[in-house]
Amino acid sequence: MQSSTLVLLWALGTLVWAEEAKPTEESILCSKSCTCLNDDYTSELSVYCSSRNLTQAPPDIPVSTRSLWLDGNLFTTLLADSFKNLSNLDFLNLQSGQLVSLDSQVFRGLHTLAHLHLERNNLRWLPATIFQSTPNLASLNLHNNQLSRLDDKLFAGLSHMWLLNIGWNSLSVLPETGFQDLHGLRELVLAGNRLAYLQTQLFQGLTELKELDLSGNQLRVIKANVFVKLPKLLKLYLAQNQIMTVAPRAFVSMKSLRWLDLSRNRLSVLHDETFLGLHSLHVLRLSNNSINSLRPGTFRDLQYLEELGLCHNQIRVLGERVFEGLGHLEVLSLEHNRLQEARMGSFMGLSHLAVIKLTGSCFRTLPDQVFKGLSKLHSIHLDKGCLTKVSTQGFIGLTSLRRLFLQHNDISVVERQSFMELQRLQQLDLRFNKLASLSSHTFYGLKSLDYLLLSNNLLRQLPSEVLLPLQHLSWLDLSGNKLEVLLNATLYMLPRLRYLNLRDNALSTLPSSIPDGLDQLWLSGNNWQCDCSAKPFRDFCLQKPLVVPRQMETLAEGEEPNTLITIYNNITCTSPPNTAGVDLRDVSSEHFKDC
Ligand SMILES: *[C@@H]1O[C@H](CO)[C@@H](O)[C@H](O)[C@H]1NC(C)=O
Ligand SMILES: *[C@@H]1O[C@H](CO)[C@@H](O)[C@H](O)[C@H]1NC(C)=O
Ligand SMILES: *[C@@H]1O[C@H](CO)[C@@H](O)[C@H](O)[C@H]1NC(C)=O
Ligand SMILES: *[C@@H]1O[C@H](CO)[C@@H](O)[C@H](O)[C@H]1NC(C)=O
Ligand SMILES: *[C@@H]1O[C@H](CO)[C@@H](O)[C@H](O)[C@H]1NC(C)=O
Repeated sequence: MQSSTLVLLWALGTLVWAEEAKPTEESILCSKSCTCLNDDYTSELSVYCSSRNLTQAPPDIPVSTRSLWLDGNLFTTLLADSFKNLSNLDFLNLQSGQLVSLDSQVFRGLHTLAHLHLERNNLRWLPATIFQSTPNLASLNLHNNQLSRLDDKLFAGLSHMWLLNIGWNSLSVLPETGFQDLHGLRELVLAGNRLAYLQTQLFQGLTELKELDLSGNQLRVIKANVFVKLPKLLKLYLAQNQIMTVAPRAFVSMKSLRWLDLSRNRLSVLHDETFLGLHSLHVLRLSNNSINSLRPGTFRDLQYLEELGLCHNQIRVLGERVFEGLGHLEVLSLEHNRLQEARMGSFMGLSHLAVIKLTGSCFRTLPDQVFKGLSKLHSIHLDKGCLTKVSTQGFIGLTSLRRLFLQHNDISVVERQSFMELQRLQQLDLRFNKLASLSSHTFYGLKSLDYLLLSNNLLRQLPSEVLLPLQHLSWLDLSGNKLEVLLNATLYMLPRLRYLNLRDNALSTLPSSIPDGLDQLWLSGNNWQCDCSAKPFRDFCLQKPLVVPRQMETLAEGEEPNTLITIYNNITCTSPPNTAGVDLRDVSSEHFKDC
């Protein structure tokens, strides 16, 4: 019994000793300019020599190394056989250094190398045979160098490669058959070069490719047969080129394509057959082009499209049925065009549309029932436009609408019951318009409205019942108007009101008390009369300084967003004369002693 326990202890001891000895042994073997780490779980050795001011590759890297980090060092070249004995190496990081050239035999011996990082150096060219010794490369990053040409055979035989990034170099032409062996390639990045054209053969053979990034080049034309043999491609980025022409049927065989970005080009015309065959497309970006009109049927094959970006173009007129076929579209961006005209049927068929962005359009009036049938619509952005009135028929049938943005127009008239059917509307933004009056029925039907923004209009008074339908209202901004009298109804008939902004009006009578639920009241920039009638309110302010704050820090909007600005809430008295210019809260108690 005793002896068997001893044996067990002895055995355990050996085990513990063996476990401890391993890292020690490795650290003795580790290159003297580097740090070694052995993964307990996979027992793979990683060697870290990043940013050590090395002027050459260390000669004493342990042979068993799996990952080698040599990024951020000072060597400008690497000689033949720099890593000769590292036959276990899987990952080699040489990024962000000073490399200008590499010997054609630099990677000799790295048969198992799978991941190679050479990005962010100053490489000008690569020897044609440099990757012949690394047949198992799976990912190769060469981006942000100064490569101006690639040898036709550079990637020959690299059939295991799935990621190749050659973006942000100075390539103006690619070798026509340079990628033909990359049968396993899934992602190819060619962005940020100077490519002016793409040969027909270029992408043939890339049958597994899922993502192709060609943005930021100098392409002018997309020919019909360049992308024909990419049956698995999901994402194609062509943004920020100089594309003026896309051949009809250019994408016709791309049955898997889900994402196509053609924004920031020079397209002015879309042919009827431009997008033919893109039956899986979910996102189509065409913003920042010079598209001046849309023809009916252009998008007819895109039955799964969810997002269509057409902002920053020059479209003037939206004819009938231009978006026909887009039954799954959720977001339509048309802001910053030159839109002046839309028809009753312009948006016909968009039965899933949730957001429509028409900011910066110059419709004077909206055609009656222009949004008819858009029963899923959540948000309408019609701000920064030329609207002069809101008419009764404008927003008919929009029973799902939550947000309506009408700020920065010239609206002076809101017809009776214009918002009648918007039972779910939560936010109505009418800031910066020309409203001088509202009728008692203006907000009729808005029983879910939470935010009502009416600042910077010309309102002189509010009819006593105008806000009565808004039983859900919690936020009311009436600042920057010409209100002289605030009816009691405004304050006391809105049970959920939390925020009330009355700054910069022409009010003189302070409220005698304020509703219980109110959290914030803004009053500066008026002509307050600080006589005896103001005493109860003064007492309230002094007791509840948080409800009527003297000032508040807030994030600026517009010109300099995200900067902190201070807004003041001075209740400056204008009368009686002995209080003029003084804040109500600073008027002495003496002044109120006979009240
Ligand atoms: C590398 O050289 C720079 C500049 O001489 C120095 O500041 C830095 O500490 C050096 N880094 C190492 C790891 O020796
Ligand atoms: C590589 O291995 C050979 C033989 O094992 C040895 O002679 C040589 O010094 C090693 N070279 C390096 C750079 O470690
Ligand atoms: C389009 O251009 C405008 C104005 O130059 C710019 O503000 C916007 O960010 C651009 N949008 C895209 C998607 O490129
Ligand atoms: C406003 O309503 C409050 C509470 O109902 C009442 O005490 C006050 O006298 C009213 N003020 C005016 C000016 O009608
Ligand atoms: C408001 O009061 C602050 C001090 O609390 C003062 O600095 C500011 O000039 C006042 N603003 C106006 C418009 O009176």
